[in-house]
Amino acid sequence: MPILQQRQSQLFKDLPMIKTGVLPSTRYQGSKYKILDWINYYTKDLVFDSVLDAFGGTGCVSYMYKKNGKRVMYNDSLKFNYYIGLALIENSKTILDDNDINFILKKHSNFNYPTFIYDTFHDIYYTDDENKWLDVVITNIKNIKNKYKQALAYYALFQSCIIKRPYNLFHRKNLYIRTAGVERSFGNKKTWDTPFENHFLKFVREGNNAVFDNGEKNTAFHSDIFDLEISKVDLVYIDTPYISTKGGGVDYFDFYHFLEGIVSYDQWGDLIDEKSKHKKIKNGKNEWCDKGEIHRAFKKLFDKFKNSILIVSYRDDGTPTIPELVGMLKVQKKDISVKKLDYKYVLSNGNSKEVLIIAQ
Ligand SMILES: C[S@@+](CC[C@H](N)C(=O)[O-])C[C@H]1O[C@@H](n2cnc3c(N)ncnc32)[C@H](O)[C@@H]1O
Repeated sequence: MPILQQRQSQLFKDLPMIKTGVLPSTRYQGSKYKILDWINYYTKDLVFDSVLDAFGGTGCVSYMYKKNGKRVMYNDSLKFNYYIGLALIENSKTILDDNDINFILKKHSNFNYPTFIYDTFHDIYYTDDENKWLDVVITNIKNIKNKYKQALAYYALFQSCIIKRPYNLFHRKNLYIRTAGVERSFGNKKTWDTPFENHFLKFVREGNNAVFDNGEKNTAFHSDIFDLEISKVDLVYIDTPYISTKGGGVDYFDFYHFLEGIVSYDQWGDLIDEKSKHKKIKNGKNEWCDKGEIHRAFKKLFDKFKNSILIVSYRDDGTPTIPELVGMLKVQKKDISVKKLDYKYVLSNGNSKEVLIIAQ
């Protein structure tokens, strides 16, 4: 029996094989995975062939439109997310086979393995042995020649890294939450302590199962949305980082800097903010996280895509307010409707409602 199947049949014998073209769930902040049906319900009858998922994140919205037979453009300003877009949206047929898995998981005598993560992140996110495993696997993945195979391997690695983290984030030095022998009222110690390799194999299988061809030429981009050059697209789906009226914004770069480091492995050491206890990567300004900038950013965004149908995912306690956003959209669009859903975010402590603004 091929190795991947063999190992999976031992490790995951209770899981049924999934059919091709099934999108796995992820633990990404702000993912719309759980409300895809609702978004689909309100957008499926609009007339469009091409769609830009401007702030793509996990790619689940792109994937839904790929399933619907649209020509999909996925974009995200984080490079690690771009690899997810490559693996699941742009990629139409390439999967990881047993040879690839063996190549990724084995140490090769002719490779020189750096120990950057082991040397740098002691006691911060993962144990020393896990850090050593990461140094080896990342070096192997960097050496994969086929870009879709490489992207799928990164995809499986990112999901493994996220699922082993308390809160599924990299915002603090908090390995002790995992290792301290105390009672916890939250989290899943079993998942955190499951070896990387087990998680990785499971996510490889899920990633492989997600790959399919919808007959269109779909594309992944890695760009700040204002630098993205796309001449024409029928519909733009907009799901920006979110600022609540009370709190601050969600800075995705700060939450996931470790994954961004993985895809810049050779330069990582130069990028770290040495003053931060959790060794995060230095980060510039982000207009989507700044209450003083975000109104201007939305206006600029709506103007940039004024010739497309605009779909904005939002929440009813955001800055700007919904009437403010509708006011901005009215400058370009005649027909605007606002839909509300009762839905509580997993990590949210408030009761804000999910909103969809449709402007054509
Ligand atoms: C709310 S999340 C999108 C979630 C996504 N719809 C999903 O369901 O997974 C916002 C995304 O915007 C990306 N982002 C932040 N600033 C950006 C920018 N200036 N241009 C493009 N993407 C950006 C973040 O990396 C993050 O993945």
